[in-house]
Amino acid sequence: MRKKVCIIFGGESVEHEISIISANSILNNIDKRKYKVFGIFISKDGEFHEAVYKINKSLKYNFIIKKRNKILFSSNVNRNIVIMNKNEVQSKTKIDIFFPMVHGTGGEDGKIQGLLELLNKPYVGCDVGSSSMCMDKILTKETLSNKLIRTTGFIHFSRNEWKDNESAITKRIAKKIDFPCFVKASNLGSSVGVYKIRNKKELKDKVRAAFKFSERILVEEAVLNPEEIEVSVLEDKKIIASTPGRVFPSDDFYSYNAKYVDGKSTIEIPYKRAMNVPSLMRELELTSKKVFQILLCSGMARVDFLFGSTKRVKKPMLYLSEVNTIPGFTEISMFPKLLNNEGLKLKKIIDILIKSAEAKFKKRSKIITDYY
Ligand SMILES: Nc1ncnc2c1ncn2[C@@H]1O[C@H](COP(=O)(O)OP(=O)(O)O)[C@@H](O)[C@H]1O
Ligand SMILES: [Mg+2]
Repeated sequence: MRKKVCIIFGGESVEHEISIISANSILNNIDKRKYKVFGIFISKDGEFHEAVYKINKSLKYNFIIKKRNKILFSSNVNRNIVIMNKNEVQSKTKIDIFFPMVHGTGGEDGKIQGLLELLNKPYVGCDVGSSSMCMDKILTKETLSNKLIRTTGFIHFSRNEWKDNESAITKRIAKKIDFPCFVKASNLGSSVGVYKIRNKKELKDKVRAAFKFSERILVEEAVLNPEEIEVSVLEDKKIIASTPGRVFPSDDFYSYNAKYVDGKSTIEIPYKRAMNVPSLMRELELTSKKVFQILLCSGMARVDFLFGSTKRVKKPMLYLSEVNTIPGFTEISMFPKLLNNEGLKLKKIIDILIKSAEAKFKKRSKIITDYY
């Protein structure tokens, strides 16, 4: 019998539309002889709807949202999804494996993973703790720098700390971080709440702007004219790190506009500099795998780096930038493209992710939760 895989997509985040394209790309590439697909769409206002799929004229599958059909989750393991139509139960179904594909807030931060944990079913990707750690830029940087992974110098503070000590914090930033620097809301993605600060004068306004998105702010040293490098990490029986790729943002930095709006950013696979410098290639591979393990990731992650000099360190070096646990999964996204370059097609990647989720679930199920 085919296993029933449920792709969860959409969501309340700014990456809502990308998530729909990512979900359709999984739908089109999943091995339908092995897996039966079910969809749950999360609307921008947080409602869960049934998503069915249809094939169009160009033989592509597409999720269709059934706005009238709402989804309820049930702890009954044999009927864990209840489809409601106008307050009437329309049908019940059993999902074997969940595949969260909601990028950013609500999906990549451990919230959906927590829900699936309570349903006691396997799900693709990182667990609750790892997801929330990777989504939090401050926690990521603190954890990794404690393990001697090179990241740019940083400080962080809360809204109250800023209110009480604004001038002391500003002095510390000028002394320890210097300008240019980056101000970031601690727990967003897509470059929302990320600002490049050129001098002390710009700092106050941008800190204020970042506080609109988050209770905590990270300020970090800038890598000057950085080369932006990405590595896909996939957990099969062992952890695989792809050959790196490079992004050429169309803006001064890889802003929201450069990522999603103007369509002018380009990529380079493989990353040429690393192809010519074996030590850099090795550093990228080893660091990506190490970071995946330190942050307790499962299944997949895209590990991002910046290569270049800083005001303090003139010699160009590799700096760990961030880890994305539900990276873009469209057919032109970096995550699958880098793995394609390793000879792994999307169909195979999806299969590996599902198998890896099942293996993790089996292991977790053996952990004792009773103690007399
Ligand atoms: N320390 C830095 N030095 C230079 N550029 C940076 C630095 N931090 C962030 N950036 C730029 O800002 C972009 C977004 O920052 P990032 O931390 O990756 O946030 P997000 O999670 O929103 O993608 C990066 O892709 C890069 O272009
Ligand atoms: Mg980023």
